Amino acid sequence: MPGFEFFGDEERKEVNDVLETGILMRYGFDGPRKGIWKALELEQAITETFGCRYAQLTSSGTAALTTAMSALGIGAGDEVIMPSFTFVASFEAVLSVGAIPVLVDIDESLTLSPDAVRNAITPRTKCVMPVHMCGSMADLDALQAICAEHSLILLEDACQSIGGSYKGKALGTIGHAGTFSFDFVKTITCGEGGVVMTNDAAVFSKSDGYTDHGHDHKGVDRGADLHPFVGYNFRISELHAAVGLAQIRKLHKILEVQRGNNLQLRAYLESIPEISFRVVPDPAGDNGAFLSWFLPTEALTKAVIAELKAQGIAAGHFYWYDNNWHYISKWEHLKTASTLNKVADAQRSALLSLATAKFPVSDAIMSRCVSTAISLSWTSEQIAEKGEKLKAVIEKIVQQQTVEA
Ligand SMILES: Cc1ncc(COP(=O)(O)O)c(C=O)c1O
Repeated sequence: MPGFEFFGDEERKEVNDVLETGILMRYGFDGPRKGIWKALELEQAITETFGCRYAQLTSSGTAALTTAMSALGIGAGDEVIMPSFTFVASFEAVLSVGAIPVLVDIDESLTLSPDAVRNAITPRTKCVMPVHMCGSMADLDALQAICAEHSLILLEDACQSIGGSYKGKALGTIGHAGTFSFDFVKTITCGEGGVVMTNDAAVFSKSDGYTDHGHDHKGVDRGADLHPFVGYNFRISELHAAVGLAQIRKLHKILEVQRGNNLQLRAYLESIPEISFRVVPDPAGDNGAFLSWFLPTEALTKAVIAELKAQGIAAGHFYWYDNNWHYISKWEHLKTASTLNKVADAQRSALLSLATAKFPVSDAIMSRCVSTAISLSWTSEQIAEKGEKLKAVIEKIVQQQTVEA
């Protein structure tokens, strides 16, 4: 997944431009910055590359989600329907605006199940937030139809799927707003950073102010700016934006290599009858960051992971079911409402109710799923070696279990 594998002179040059002016902040200092506006340039490049009208950079993907929710008017007591498989940042952002995360099952796309969304809608539901996990997408036609039918906001967390698309449109640009993360392990990176994308002028202008203490950015004198609403400091720095600018120019190449390596590795698993693959609603739009595959049972999957570890080749194969960051079963801090400050009663009781909530459909999927991260730096020979070894491990375990049974 990481664009950092392609770092080079291009990133150094963009960063040096900023260091030479000494203006590390994205706003103000118009004279001394000598025409260097990296954040603005990156925002322009994002709108052109992904085909949205507006882009507002932020200091992280988490900040982008919080900003998008605020700009979309999601707040205290509003329910946001989101998947049980995601990164913790998705619910952190919901909580940060005072809203209530309503976690529901995924399907074999590893993203929100439209049926589960339908069943979770209440009069308090304000937003549906699919998370396009591991480079691929949710069934956006189905989710858009549900949102239209119930007048709900569709907010895409596309932090893990930069460059992916659905029916020709970039992920993150299809809902009322969408976000990317540019943290260090993302498809393109700023080191730290994120973006809110939208086609709605009002959502953009609110995002713009919200990420900079509510400044209206109407004049050239920051001190004279008005503050139509309360905001925060979620600004990206010029140094981070400079790295992102070099990276976005490499996106095409990154995706080409990522998808090519993914396909080459996939061929080894395709020849194993017991293996099936994640459902991808629009296969042409998978960004290729991960190859996600299933074994028929939890026991087989655990045995394969154990054997990969025993052979010292488990790195890069993620068994999310046992991973502390990505799946509800391990989010004890969420289920015990372990927050540092007091939260509203409605939020607290919703979190505590997660302790007894059951996700049988998601469990049945996640307990059999392994996602293999795709590296950009692999050679064809290395992929062949990895593929052979992985295949041998799976076949060995499948055969052992068949004999035992
Ligand atoms: C699905 C998802 N959403 C949000 C984020 C948050 O992004 P950041 O690390 O830039 O805050 C991440 C980061 O890994 C993510 O994977």
